[in-house]
Amino acid sequence: MGEFVSQLKRTHNCGELRKEHIGQTVVLMGWVQNHRDHGKTVMVDLRDRGGLTQLVFDYAISPEALKTAESMRSEFVIAVQGEVASRGEAINPKLATGEIEIKVRKAEILNRSEPVPFAIEDETGVNETSRLKHRVLDLRRFPMQRNIMMRHRISKVMRDYCDGLGFLELETPMLTKSTPEGARDFLVPSRIHPGEFYALPQSPQLFKQLFMVAGYDRYFQIVRCFRDEDLRADRQPEFTQFDMEMSFASQEDIFQVVEGLIRNIWKVVEGVDLPARFPRMTWRQAMDDYGIDKPDTRFGLPLREVSEIVADSDFKVFREVVKGGGIVKGLNVKGGVSMSRSELDELSAFAQQLGAKGMAWVKVNPDGWQSPIAKFLSDGEKQKLAEKLALETGDLAIFIADRHHLANQVLAQIRLQLGRQLKLIDESRWNFLWVVDFPLFEWDDANMRISPAHHPFTSPVIEDAGFLETNPLQVRAQSYDLVLNGNELGSGSVRIHNSELQSKIFDLLGIGEEQQRVKFGFLLDAFRFGAPPHAGIALGLDRITMLLARATSLRDVIAFPKTARGQCLLTSAPSLVDDDQLKELGLRIAHTAKPQAV
Ligand code: AMO
Ligand code: AMP
Repeated sequence: MGEFVSQLKRTHNCGELRKEHIGQTVVLMGWVQNHRDHGKTVMVDLRDRGGLTQLVFDYAISPEALKTAESMRSEFVIAVQGEVASRGEAINPKLATGEIEIKVRKAEILNRSEPVPFAIEDETGVNETSRLKHRVLDLRRFPMQRNIMMRHRISKVMRDYCDGLGFLELETPMLTKSTPEGARDFLVPSRIHPGEFYALPQSPQLFKQLFMVAGYDRYFQIVRCFRDEDLRADRQPEFTQFDMEMSFASQEDIFQVVEGLIRNIWKVVEGVDLPARFPRMTWRQAMDDYGIDKPDTRFGLPLREVSEIVADSDFKVFREVVKGGGIVKGLNVKGGVSMSRSELDELSAFAQQLGAKGMAWVKVNPDGWQSPIAKFLSDGEKQKLAEKLALETGDLAIFIADRHHLANQVLAQIRLQLGRQLKLIDESRWNFLWVVDFPLFEWDDANMRISPAHHPFTSPVIEDAGFLETNPLQVRAQSYDLVLNGNELGSGSVRIHNSELQSKIFDLLGIGEEQQRVKFGFLLDAFRFGAPPHAGIALGLDRITMLLARATSLRDVIAFPKTARGQCLLTSAPSLVDDDQLKELGLRIAHTAKPQAV
């Protein structure tokens, strides 16, 4: 059968016709959303990414068109020519085109469709596996189309805005050497150099810095990054960054550019005016008050450390934890006495799942404290705790005693859980926040040494540089995160631009001279020939889109995403390759992860 070529030319999309168009002859093309046969008339809702338009095929208008319509089925691709007519009283207020319909004079079937595995509806009950397997059909659904089109609009604002400020959109290699961003690399074997590998970039970090050294003083790129890490709802193995770098720029300059960009995006996509300047918070304060470096500031429930108050208490758990160098921290759930025993047990189980050894609680009743630990606390301790947490009658206090890191981590999650459970979060708010003054290093328990908190190219705060050798964990970095409603949107820093300081940082990280040459020789060399001071940031495009689209998973804003197990269900990647391909690459599979049948 030959391909059918229509003589018709599309004049409008399926979302744009209104009352003003009544009387015009138009041509629409698209997919049959549904099909209602009333004998002498057939009604069809025609769909394209613009929306839906009602078509009327009527014997009185065109018996041929009606005949064609009778053989139409869901997801057939059709073209129609006809007149825009009023629907009279039968307006559909739910549709943008709900006041009109098309009286079809000419109809063509451009292609047929087999029955689809699931209906192309906004609300689909179908599971995600099926949606990912039949992704093409899933992408036809309006909610997905809205997300994907929103993503386009966001990228467009990024490009226009940066171009307006004199930034150049420059590309960086995909087949490259490893950039340490803290994840595992995806490796690509070289055929020409058997046994040698490229790494896919975890970010363009080093190349954008090289662009600065090369004099391209304002760079940006909307760029794919690859990280082989354990996936979560807000992580994908390949994801997209809005990446930028500026020479002769301070932290403040970066903030200004990014605030302007974000304001533009929110104006275009959401129609809201964000404040001219985003609030800032030091990393230290974020950890103290929220227990986490990406605080959701849409609600209160601040954490308060009470270690000193309970250091000598009769409650052994608290006393011993403090003696062992840990902390006791709590939060005040205002009016929380109404929480039931089972709700508290659930919260406690949640804390234990996160690694806590227990969760202590106190209800402040009119007749005194009700708590499994009240009997161990003196009146003085109770009073001090009440002061520290601003406890009043009707409140509930929750305490976790543990190592510093774990106590914070658990309480941060308890706080978020309570925020959701008690509906304390105002979902209409966009609370942006710059978190600043991160530490330069953190302690890496697994390897028993310091590791970069951001990446090894971040400049220390100059006043702190004296402690690099004596007390490196105390050194602050000139790095910053952009946080939105408790999500990390982006991360950046002022960079080191001096080869001696860069070398010293590598030394402190345990990267010896030889390794420095092998891994980063090109960077250190570039720094020897006049590197300008520079700073930059990368924002997660997927995360920005996810939040603006009010999606709960990155998979809903990436057209062809991977599952949590790193698979593309549409193409079945990753997959086995031919022995010949392996041979050409000089590779042999030693073992597969797939369990052998027993
Ligand atoms: P960082 O590693 O913090 O910084 O990444 C920047 C931003 O990218 C997003 N992101 C991700 N999004 C989805 N899936 C992932 N697996 C993933 N990993 C990161 C986040 C994050 O804030 N080169 C530095 C930036 C710089 O210093 O300029 C970097 O890559 O939104
Ligand atoms: P126990 O005496 O171990 O039964 O604990 C008494 C109360 O203290 C219980 O409510 C426990 O959940 C709580 N608890 C135990 N360990 C901790 C801890 N590390 N931090 C906070 N509360 C704890």
